[in-house]
Amino acid sequence: MSDKIKSFKLSKNIYSTARLHGSFEEIFKSAGYNLSFNTEERLLIKEEIISNARECDGIITLLADKIDREVIDSLKNCRIIANYAVGYNNIDVDYAYSKNIVVTNTPGILTEATAETALALMLACARRIAEGDKFMRAGKFTGWMPSLMLGTGLKGKTAGIIGAGRIGIAFGEMASALGMKILYSANSDKPEFEKKTGASRRQLRDLVKESDVISVHVPLNESTRHMISGEIIDLMKPGCIFINTARGEITDEKYLIGALRAGKIFSAGFDVYYGEPQVNPELYELENVVLLPHIGSATSETRAAMAKMASENIISYLETGRALNPVR
Ligand code: GLV
Ligand code: GLV
Repeated sequence: MSDKIKSFKLSKNIYSTARLHGSFEEIFKSAGYNLSFNTEERLLIKEEIISNARECDGIITLLADKIDREVIDSLKNCRIIANYAVGYNNIDVDYAYSKNIVVTNTPGILTEATAETALALMLACARRIAEGDKFMRAGKFTGWMPSLMLGTGLKGKTAGIIGAGRIGIAFGEMASALGMKILYSANSDKPEFEKKTGASRRQLRDLVKESDVISVHVPLNESTRHMISGEIIDLMKPGCIFINTARGEITDEKYLIGALRAGKIFSAGFDVYYGEPQVNPELYELENVVLLPHIGSATSETRAAMAKMASENIISYLETGRALNPVR
């Protein structure tokens, strides 16, 4: 490689708003890029993102970083925003594209990890796992009792999957393996999924009426915001379990809390929250909820694969003009 090309390459600056898992430092280094990143274990505020990313050619962002017009306007040289997530509702994608900045995400590789998290929440809710753990630690266990902490069985029950994309389908296959009947709502039929699991498609209103467990797997956008409205929550089968590993804003969370408090919903498992990272303190008071800190994709394997995918998107786009996983 001539010195000229080398120095041209070296001039590419990449900024990541966090230290990522896996080998992303080596990936950029071996491509001859300058990588800098936030080395602290905390989210950056907007002003910090603006001042740190101003000169970069590409940026890696977290789902918790709000990349709005003001941030995009401050990115003078940036040609690509690689979001370290499958969801990208944190980015003003229309505005980025209007400024000739491509946006990429990490589809496909966090499917099983996220579906497993939904499965773990479903089991934890049905069998009161988190509550049982708290009970033990509080020293309340005095011995086996016939009606101690009765939960609900899952075999033969109906799992209603809202959004049969990759994650919804993976969750459906897992639930089917537990002997559950599968319903799903989606914009189109999923014949392979139906063949594999015997799943049937339903309108959202019918799905929530018929399901014993309801699990949300749609992306957050203007058509899904508050999709699980008060009216939909009122239609849910009494005693059902509700799981959300997608985005908090898809639900009317306040209304849902009311339904949990009233015992209309047996229990709920949350990995995501309305207005995250804020958490409605009322959730902490409820016994019948299981709360996780947005760890849907948090396995070592998955996070390393996500880091690799985000990095490769940037390098591919800056080298060839072709992003591997553009969101549009
Ligand atoms: C996680 O929530 C993601 O969108 O990757
Ligand atoms: C994510 O990978 C999805 O489309 O469900």
